[in-house]
Amino acid sequence: MKVDVLLGLQWGDEGKGKIVDVLTPAYDVVTRFQGGPNAGHTLEFDGQKYILRSIPSGIFQGNKINIIGNGVVLDPALFKAEAEALAAAGRRLEDKLYISKKAHLILPTHRLLDAANEIAKGDARVGTTGKGIGPAYTDKIARNGLRVGDILSDFERKYNNAKAKHEIQLAALAHPTVPPDVEQEWWQGVEYLKRFRLVDSEHFINNLLDEGKNILAEGAQGTLLDVDFGSYPFVTSSNTVCAGACTGLGIAPGKIGEVIGIFKAYCTRVGSGPFPTELKDATGDKLCEIGREFGSVTGRRRRCGWLDLVALRYAIRLNGVTRLVMMKSDVLDDFDTIKVCTSYRINGEETSDFPFEIDENVEPVYEELPGWKTDLTRISSERDFPPALNHYLDFLEERLGLPVRVVSVGADREQTITRRRV
Ligand code: GDP
Ligand code: IMO
Ligand code: MG
Repeated sequence: MKVDVLLGLQWGDEGKGKIVDVLTPAYDVVTRFQGGPNAGHTLEFDGQKYILRSIPSGIFQGNKINIIGNGVVLDPALFKAEAEALAAAGRRLEDKLYISKKAHLILPTHRLLDAANEIAKGDARVGTTGKGIGPAYTDKIARNGLRVGDILSDFERKYNNAKAKHEIQLAALAHPTVPPDVEQEWWQGVEYLKRFRLVDSEHFINNLLDEGKNILAEGAQGTLLDVDFGSYPFVTSSNTVCAGACTGLGIAPGKIGEVIGIFKAYCTRVGSGPFPTELKDATGDKLCEIGREFGSVTGRRRRCGWLDLVALRYAIRLNGVTRLVMMKSDVLDDFDTIKVCTSYRINGEETSDFPFEIDENVEPVYEELPGWKTDLTRISSERDFPPALNHYLDFLEERLGLPVRVVSVGADREQTITRRRV
């Protein structure tokens, strides 16, 4: 069997959590492969809303196996808070959640280093989520990291060693060290982790594949935040592209099946960094307001703009996307016309390639399409799509060379329309 990968094609928050939850019944296993609690994946069903950060979005559908893969960075304190909130809502995870022993730990001092690094960058700050993601991955690559499996033996010594190194760095940045209550909470998280099945996930996952199990890998962040291919340095510290699923789970490239790419019918970005189609006007405010574009983790206002096909084609290519899912279509319900960026003009020359540098010289070239002026949130079948929505989809499919298989028309699980036509 193969691993299907579902990932974001923009700057994150495309609606990955919702679609993973919708697709989970077709899979035996759901697994995260990169990122950490910088993610905020929202699911809505039965009038309830849940936001998941480190736990895969497959945990609400029956007793499917959920795995936190080796490519993830895990903060035990935040994990405990997340798992306990779910337990309080009647969702016990112990029997269905597995955690890779090779996943790296986010220490309290990583969070502080994240903050200190941002302060040191001044105006050039990335606008991180402040969850210690960059410093934790830095330690992983620099071979200083601590892994989940480390908590099982002699951990206090390993922790104190790592903390001492971080304190030198913090002192150099004139940043205070970790308060005792925060550290204590983190240690409670470490103890809490021990009640879960800590596994050699690369063996576990490959054995599941050998047994014929279907696996869905859930991406976090989005392709334009990828550390290699995103708008560097305004990116996250992991490979968010499909290849990240191979290293983040321990599966061979040939084991990848479908690659499901998710995009919003428009575009958003949270934090700093270039965003060619950003609208800093009333239209941008309207998208933000109707789309409720505020970060699920940080509450920060997301920057909004029109759909960018240059960036989307780039993302499709990097990931080998085989099918597309269009999210938040209903947010465009009330627009007379909708713009779509089809190319960039850079120093007078038009290009459809995503450039090395995205700066103020990159000017989006738009085509304008008619809006559908219809309330999509109540539509449950493709048959009822207004002609202008079909036209929008046809236009995108033609420009992207791929079918849009699913159209999302609201935040609820039920507001998801699978298209048979394509
Ligand atoms: P993720 O990080 O990719 O899982 O996405 P987020 O959960 O951070 O952000 C997506 C937001 O849009 C959440 O608040 C969802 O509840 C909401 N959402 C998802 N799909 C739709 C949709 O089709 N329409 C509307 N209006 N909201 C949606
Ligand atoms: P989900 O999975 C949107 C952004 C941050 C910042 C940059 C680096 O919910 O789509 P980091 O804390 O990772 O070092 O921040 O990446 N960012 C996200 N933006 N959605 C996310 O996750 C994000 N995770 C990180 O805003 O610009
Ligand atoms: Mg999110």
